[in-house]
Parts: sequence; C-alpha cells; structure tokens
Amino acid sequence: MSDIKEIYIKEPFKDQKPGTSGLRKSTIEFQQDNYLEIFIESILRTLDFNQNNSLIIGGDGRYGNEEAIIKIIQICIAHKVKKIIIPVNGILSTPAASNLIRKKNAFAGIILSASHNPGGINGDFGVKVNIANGGPAPEKFTDKVFKCSQMLTNYKFYDAKIPDFNKVGFFQIKDTTVEVIDGVDDYVDLMEHIFDLDQIADFLKKDFSIVFDAMNAVTGPYAKRIFIEKMGLSKDCVLNGLPLKDFGNLHPDPNLTYANQLADLLLNKQSYCFGAACDGDGDRNMILGKGCFINPSDSLAILTANTKFVPGYKDGISGVARSMPTSMAVDSVAKKINIPCYETPTGWKFFGNLLDSNMITICGEESFGTGSDHIREKDGLWAVLFWLQILACRKCSVSELIHNHWNHFGRNYYTRHDYEAIPKDVATQIYQNLENLLPQLKNNKFANSLVLNADNFTYTDPVDNSISKNQGLRIILENNSRIILRLSGTGTKGSTLRIYFEKYSQTNENLNLNPQVALCELIKSLDDLLNISKLTKMDQPTVIT
Ligand code: G1P
Ligand code: ZN
Repeated sequence: MSDIKEIYIKEPFKDQKPGTSGLRKSTIEFQQDNYLEIFIESILRTLDFNQNNSLIIGGDGRYGNEEAIIKIIQICIAHKVKKIIIPVNGILSTPAASNLIRKKNAFAGIILSASHNPGGINGDFGVKVNIANGGPAPEKFTDKVFKCSQMLTNYKFYDAKIPDFNKVGFFQIKDTTVEVIDGVDDYVDLMEHIFDLDQIADFLKKDFSIVFDAMNAVTGPYAKRIFIEKMGLSKDCVLNGLPLKDFGNLHPDPNLTYANQLADLLLNKQSYCFGAACDGDGDRNMILGKGCFINPSDSLAILTANTKFVPGYKDGISGVARSMPTSMAVDSVAKKINIPCYETPTGWKFFGNLLDSNMITICGEESFGTGSDHIREKDGLWAVLFWLQILACRKCSVSELIHNHWNHFGRNYYTRHDYEAIPKDVATQIYQNLENLLPQLKNNKFANSLVLNADNFTYTDPVDNSISKNQGLRIILENNSRIILRLSGTGTKGSTLRIYFEKYSQTNENLNLNPQVALCELIKSLDDLLNISKLTKMDQPTVIT
C-alpha cells in the first residue's frame, strides 16, 4: 500500500480568505479536520514552485506550531517538494524567515503565526505565505489561494511519521530532503552586517541600562544571542525570554496596554534608560525611554533622519514609505533630506514592489512596524538595534533625541483609538455612516478647519500599476490634521474599528502636550459626528496608542 494518501472532502471550507497578513483564525477553528491541510494544499497548488529551490517553514512557537509543521511537511512530500528548510523546533521569527527565504534562494516560505494575537488553545493561529523576494504574498496570489481552497475536493499527504526536528541535521523522505538549521544564526549574522554591535555594546556598558521584553514569544532566543552572548550584557536585560506555547498568557502585542510590565518599568518606575518589546513573531517593536514613549510614527521619522549613524545605510537611502494611516512625521524628514516619500495602504505587502525596485530603503507603519530593504518584512529587533546605534553615536537619552527631532522638524501629534472585538454590525454601521457623510464634509468646516479632502483611499502601485480600493476613510483638514477610519483585517473576534487622529504643530508651538489633549478637538468632533461611544456602548476605546 502506498504511504501517499489522498483525502476526499465533502465540502470545502468557505472562510479561508487571507486578510491583512495571511489566514488568521482561532486555534480551535484551525483544529477542525482538514482545515489546515486544505489551505496548505491550496498554497502548493497555487505556488509555481521550482523543484531546484527550497521551501522555508517555521513559526513563532505558539500552540499548534510543531503539529502544523509536521502536516505541512507531509503534504510537501506528497507534492514532491525537493527541499524543505526548517529551524530547530520549528521556531523562526518572521524577519528571520524573510531573511532565510532570500539568503537560501527559496521559492517561498510558510510562516505559522498569528503575529501579535494571543496564542494557546483559546488564542489564535495563522498561516502566511511569503514569496521568493522574502515578503508577504501579494493580493493576486492570496486571491488565487482562496479561490482554490473554495473548490478543493481532495488533498494528498505522506501518511507516516516525520523524524523529530529538535537538532541541526538532515533527513530524507522519498523525493524530499528536510534540512534542520539553527533559526537564529543567519539573522544575527545579518544584524552584524548592518550594525556595529561592538560600538553599541561599549555604549550600553557605560551606564546606559536597557531592558528588552520578548513577551514569552519568538524573539527571546534572538535577543539573548545578541544582547547577552554577543554584547556581553547581563542576563536580566532580556525579560520573558523563553518562547512559550501560550506566551505565558501574555497578549504579545508591544503597546502600552499589553506590554504593561515594560511600560511600568520605564514610564512609572523609570528603572532603565531604554526599553523595548517585540510581538509574537518578532516583526513589531515598541521603543521606550526613561519616562518617555516613542510613537511608532515618530520612530520611523527618527530612523529616517539618522541613517548616517548606521554602517548599513552610510551610503544614503533612496526613499521612504509609510502606510496611509501612519503620521506624516516622516514626510517632513523626507522633504528636508530631499528623498521621495510614498504613501501605501495598510499592510507590509504594499512595500514589496517599492523595495524590490530600490525606490525606498526604509519603510514603516504606525502599528509598531519598521523595516528596510535588508529583508521584506518589518523587523522588531532591527528597529531596536537601529535606535541603540543612534543613541550610541549621538550619546544622548531617548527623550533628548525625540525632543531634538521635534524642535527641528515640528511634531505630528498622533493617536490611534482601537475598538476591539465589537459587534460586526456596529462596526459596519459606523464605517458606513462616515462613508456616506464624506461628500458632505468636503469643502466644509470640521473641527474648526476646512476639509480639503474626504474620501476612501485608493492606491495605485507605482511599479505594477495595480489598484487597491477601499483602503480607509480619511478626512484631511487644511490645518494639516487628518482623521482616518478603517476596519481591521487581522482580528479574529467580531470587528475591530481603528481610528487615527493626527495634527501637526510647528517648531515654534508648544510641543510638549499629551497627544490626547492636543488631539481632543478632533476626537470630540468625530464622536459628535458618528456617535461612536453611544453605538459601541464604550466610554473609551479598548486600546489607545
Ligand atoms: C494590523 C496593522 C497593520 C499591520 C498588520 C499586520 O492590521 O494595523 O499596520 O500591517 O496588523 O501586522 P489591521 O488589523 O489594522 O488590518
Ligand atoms: Zn507580528
């Protein structure tokens, strides 16, 4: 009897539509019979794979990670994939996966993660496909996968045991070679090529204390290798450094609400000069100084303004890009240093073409994501090292750096209000109400300023001219303020409404206001217009950034 089995399914799952970052569902949904298998079969049928190249598979270590890797290997064997590369124990951060795809010339990568969503049996799971450039697959690919999954009647797999992958080595099954590698080596090597780790280490050892919170997720082993083994810092500089299947019940989203242990250490106790955290799969980052929170939009602007201090960018940068809801702080820097600045829809995949065509070097999103052309994903630890390199060169505190920046470029007060997991009909109603009001708002007064534009953002990719519609409702005011409203594409419960508020203050104005105070008129005017608190029955958003 053959050990390649064909499974016929009665009815395909109709809900496997990838969102902002791949297919993300509750762990329970992923555990339905054939659920993962159908999605993987659809991916393999859609990927035009070159038999000479390999496929990278790895994930953030959450509940279900290893089991999923085994199933994927079994399906790949049945599809005669020639070579698969997996990290020891299947643990690989998203940026490390992107790097490996590029370095090993892989035809694709399958990343198992629900990013910053909680893990465990009651948490979430996810599958993301990255293409040969190392970046998330574009919509035209994921649309094909979705279509395929809806029509699938059968899938095939290798019905026998897969050897353990808890140490470096090789195994061969039928036509497939599986190579198990150290998941940290190549990434750390890349960081050593971009940054001067010795210079950073010297600075940190001279009375500049840091703490890094891995949130019991994937970055623990990477951070320990860099900060403790390479730089020689003390062991306690990495908090929550062991990847756990349920992230120790933490919600591994590095923001002030969920990374509250770190926030307390830096903002209340002021015990360290610098603090940072990364999310579940290691692509997001939050930067804190003593008593000082860095808004991610400002972080993007700071990195862009200080590339000359980082060896990897000493030859200059070609351009920069930000997602549409990200504040325009980086636009002011781009203007001053005379480089182009692109505005893309939310989601890292939209940076791919710009990076591949060398039109940009640095890019970022307000959602704690920054990155560059070194890979095709955002990169949490890269951003942390970038900050440390700037501080080591400029020999100043985080607070001094950000204040100097504002004094030079002006400040874009910015906040994002998230209403998480609200009923779908409520979120849709608020969204549609605003969409219907947009034509009336245009050219009229709103929050004491003239509305220059009110629309639903459409993006035309400058490289391949593809058009992406319905990328967020925006109200743009004459006084350089903006309000943006969109529905999340990564949540798994109900709907999540995100509202972004921004207001620019020039260098001669008061730059030390609390953003919620600076933006209160915009926030109140929008609530008056849309009755958000009434409709959501919430006095406050779930998360304020
Ligand atoms: C969120 C962020 C977005 C990011 C994505 C993946 O998506 O807002 O910037 O690219 O997670 O990390 P959303 O839930 O808003 O669709
Ligand atoms: Zn992530």
